[in-house]
Order: sequence, then C-alpha cells, then structure tokens
Amino acid sequence: MTERPSASKAQAPLLRARFAADPAEAMARINSSIEFDKRLYAEDIAGSQAHAAMLVAQGILSAADGTAIADGLESVGREIEAGEFQFDPALEDIHMNIEARLIALIGEPGKRLHTARSRNDQVATDLKLWVRAALEGADDRLRDLQAALIARAEEHIETVMPGFTHLQPAQPITFAHHLLAYVEMFGRDRGRMADARARLNECPLGAAALAGTSFDIDRDATARALGFDRPTANSIDSVSDRDFAMEAVAAAALAAGHLSRLAEELVVWSSPGFGFVRLSDAFSTGSSIMPQKRNPDAAELVRGKTGRIVGALVALLTTIKGLTLAYAKDMQEDKEPVFDAFDSLILCLEAMVGMIRDLTADPERMRAMAGSGHATATDAADWLVRVLGLPFREAHGVVGRLVRLAEERGCDLEALGLADFQTIEPRITDGIFDVLGIDRSVASRNSLAGTAPERVRAALARARERFL
Ligand code: ARG
Repeated sequence: MTERPSASKAQAPLLRARFAADPAEAMARINSSIEFDKRLYAEDIAGSQAHAAMLVAQGILSAADGTAIADGLESVGREIEAGEFQFDPALEDIHMNIEARLIALIGEPGKRLHTARSRNDQVATDLKLWVRAALEGADDRLRDLQAALIARAEEHIETVMPGFTHLQPAQPITFAHHLLAYVEMFGRDRGRMADARARLNECPLGAAALAGTSFDIDRDATARALGFDRPTANSIDSVSDRDFAMEAVAAAALAAGHLSRLAEELVVWSSPGFGFVRLSDAFSTGSSIMPQKRNPDAAELVRGKTGRIVGALVALLTTIKGLTLAYAKDMQEDKEPVFDAFDSLILCLEAMVGMIRDLTADPERMRAMAGSGHATATDAADWLVRVLGLPFREAHGVVGRLVRLAEERGCDLEALGLADFQTIEPRITDGIFDVLGIDRSVASRNSLAGTAPERVRAALARARERFL
C-alpha cells in the first residue's frame, strides 16, 4: 500500500510548494476530512462571499475580481447542490475543494480569494454557522414537541393516573400534569439552545491564522453580512475556541436525556402490565417470529441514541482538553461528533413528536392503577393532621399501621371500615372517607404548581403563552 492517491498532485499548487515529495498514502488519508466536512459547503461559500465582498469594499480586491469570485462561488454551490461536484480527498477539506474548483472555473481572481484569511478562521466561522442553524433547528422541533405534549395534556386535564416515585405508585396525579412536566424540561432545553446561540454569535473571520492580518480588513462588515452580532475580540481565541460546539452539544445531551426519560415512560406505559397508552401502528414494530408483538422500537431508539449524543459531548471535551493555543489539527475531529449529535437529536425529536401526537391513552387503566396500592395514604395522614391536630410524623405512623392492617386483609386502605380505622386511632370519624377517593385527592392538591385540575388548566394556558 505504498501507492499515493492519484489526485494528491492536485494539492501541490495550493499549499505544497515547499515540499519535494507527495504525502504518503496514510498521511493523505489521516489528513483528509472532506468525507464529513463537505456538509459545511454552504457555510463555507457564504463565508467566502462575505470575505470577498469585504475585500472589494476595502479596496484590497478589484471590483472585477470581486464579481468573478462571487459568480464563481455561486457556480460551485450549484454544482455541489446538483451532485455534480467532484470532491477530491487529496484536497483535504471542504475549504480547499471549493477554492481549487473556484480557481479552475475563474482562474486568477480565484487565487486572490484567500487574501487576509486562513483556513483556521474559515473553519471556525463555518462551524459556528452550522451549529447556529442546528441550534435553531433543534429549537423548532423542541417547540413542536411542546405543542404536541400541550395538545395531549388538554385532553387529559381530568384523567387520573398514579404518580410514581421509585416506579412505585406514590400519589394520584393527572395525566396532563405529568405531560406538562416534560413541557417544562423541554422549555429549559430551549433556553439552553438559545443561550448557546447567543454566546456563539461572534464572528471569527479576520482572525486569519491566529494573529490577525496586515491587510486593512473590516471585520464588522463580514460579521454583519453573516448575521453575527459582532466580531470576536481576540484573534487567538477566535481560532482556538470550540466551546461554542461543546456548549451546543451539551445542550443537546441534556435534551436527549429528557427525551430518553420520556421514551422510557412510553416503553413502560405501553407494556401490557401498565397499558396506559397504545402507540399508533405507525410508531410500532412487529417481531420476525412472534406475530402478536407490538414493540415500541422508536421509543427504545430515542432512549438508545442518548448514548451517542452524550458520547459526542465526551469526545469533544476530550479532544480539546490540553490543546495548546492556537489551532491544532486535533480540532478537525470536532465535526463528526457535532454533526452526529444534532442529526441524532433532530431525528429523536421528530420521532417523539410523532409518537406523542399519535398515541392513544387509556384513562380506565390509569385510574385502576391510581386507585390501588393505598395511593391516598398521604391524604389520610393529612386528614389526621387537619382534623385531629396530630403532628404529621404521628399521623404518618397511624396510617402506616392502617396500611399494614389493610394488607393483612388483602384490601386497599379505603376498603377498610370505620371500625377498623378506629382500632388504630379511636378519634377517627367517617369524615376520613371523603379524602380517600382519588378524584378528591387530586383536586385537593391545589397548591401552586400542583396537580389539581384547576391548577393544571391554568398551567396549560400559561404554557401556551410561554412556549408556543
Ligand atoms: N480541515 C481543517 C479543520 O477542520 C481546516 C483547518 C485547517 N487548518 C490548518 N492549519 N491545517 O480543522
């Protein structure tokens, strides 16, 4: 395998003038990023257009050269979009592939484009533009998911289900309230996406290799042209910073964690033992051997893909750790994790929106489980506090003994008779039965942010205002 890539000569005119020999095959292969960074072509062309227009405005390039470059870059963009572009691995990356093609198309003006810039500020700019759009795409889908959850919640304001801790029935809640918990999580995820977007929105272009440039460039103009709020403040930081990517992927990892919890709930809820929800046919899969199966593969994959999104974050953090300033080629390894994290997140969000929109809830099954397992024991203890004036800790003990009695009888707490209650605490009256029903229990949890339908109705209206 000593054969050199045949196209390696293509690189020579661009940057190998000082070498007598071609790169080794393994050198060319380890160095080449075009297979993945070709995804940055639109951002790269936009950056070059802004840079060239600025060079013309500053009198660094002639207007004629500027026009040739602008038209040439447009042609290159069209070729790539039409699938006609020949990507050459020997040209390493998207920046040199586009520049080489520009030169092939328009000749000498193309060779002037790289004045007062470097691939270092170029790639930082391209990746920022890509991440910015990815954050916006994620935000859109997070909003879609909130809208789907809010729509389902509106149908289930009065639907009582068991609320769990330790996946053991804890207290009755409403299904709407449970769904709105996720609306809050995804709202914070959107906040993190917005924060990351605001912080990254400074333009590195013009930092050149690391030290700035001797040309009289206008960094405000390029920043503005590319929709940045301002140029970056330090040229070394401009080409060294990848924390914008890490922050975005960290936000993606947190969102993936939330999606994974919801996915896990769908898996549990759709299992026959629970039967709280039924996923639509469109979001269920069959088994190759068991004809009756109805599997929640999409939910499992949403849960499963969390691993690779978190993995992308770890990969980025590890790659950047310990790099001296400014640019090092290690940074080329930043792109695949970023692309993969956002591709996975967006796919997961789209699948989750579909599952939530399509699912059928079974309020009967939810209610049946909500009413079992002594789910209103806390309400009984609260009654002892409120009516008999017991300290809560003592009330807890009384109800604990009542639950033990119920279990000895093989029944639920509310199935015990008044006489049974009075064997444990003689002052109990039949007023206690009023609080043992699950609807009463739910309606009574009317504190701020609580599960009572009245509160949930208001929370839904607020959620619509805040998020949609
Ligand atoms: N393909 C490179 C990357 O992704 C572009 C920057 C190259 N710069 C350099 N000094 N070799 O990081």
